[in-house]
Amino acid sequence: MFSEIDILSDTEIKNNLLPEYKYFDIKIFKVTDSTNKQAKELIAKNAFENGTTLVADEQTDGKGRFGKSFFSPKGTGIYFSTIIKAPIKLQNISLVTIISALSVCKAIAKLTKSKPQIKWINDIYVNGKKVCGILTETISNFETQIADAVIVGIGINLKTKFFPNELKDKAGFVTTENVCRNFFIAEILNNLFSLVKDISNKKVIEEYKRLSFVLNKKIKYLSKDTIITARAVDINERGNLVVKDSGGKISALESGEVSLYDLP
Ligand code: BTN
Repeated sequence: MFSEIDILSDTEIKNNLLPEYKYFDIKIFKVTDSTNKQAKELIAKNAFENGTTLVADEQTDGKGRFGKSFFSPKGTGIYFSTIIKAPIKLQNISLVTIISALSVCKAIAKLTKSKPQIKWINDIYVNGKKVCGILTETISNFETQIADAVIVGIGINLKTKFFPNELKDKAGFVTTENVCRNFFIAEILNNLFSLVKDISNKKVIEEYKRLSFVLNKKIKYLSKDTIITARAVDINERGNLVVKDSGGKISALESGEVSLYDLP
């Protein structure tokens, strides 16, 4: 489980996958632009299977949500994209993001002493700082309303301590413990693909809600260029954040349309 030199290895990742996922194609890059971009290229060529996973030791053009970049320095983080090829209804796509965040939190809680929390919808925090971001991208089939493939791109500052100036107040790292990245990645994949099978189970949202630090807090969000202040009151069965504004109006926010930017 622990090793002094933390070298990424497809064999080590596979060795720690559950028997039913041992067939996953795991590809390791010493350096690449973005594993999500590489995953999209594989999908365009139809050269992927369920569980095809691209892992990088370093990314030169890591992508974040809302067109942001994701800082991905060599050797200290976990950067990977895995492709889910399972019949997921487009209306349930937010739930993929929910189960991805849950999978990372479970791995952190199991493999380290850190206590992860989730900022809806998919930012993971440890000690008040963001340690993980998730970028889910869907290849949609609008006729069937079922996704052809979903790319789940996960970036974790596992041991990264030095951040550029613009990030250093907000970004943190998961742990100083000697955790092996191969083991961590396998654990997340095991969690994620097990949860895909159970995606509509109410227990998933219950577990997610327990880890949320947004619920019952006052939040601000940006919707169609307007800043709205509200209280987060629930997360519904579709993974939407249910908010109540000062006039008592209830709205269900979908992850794609809002950006939470403040939690006083
Ligand atoms: C965010 O915080 O806005 C999402 C960050 C997602 C980063 C991961 S790192 C692996 C994968 N490849 C990318 O280019 N992005 C995701």
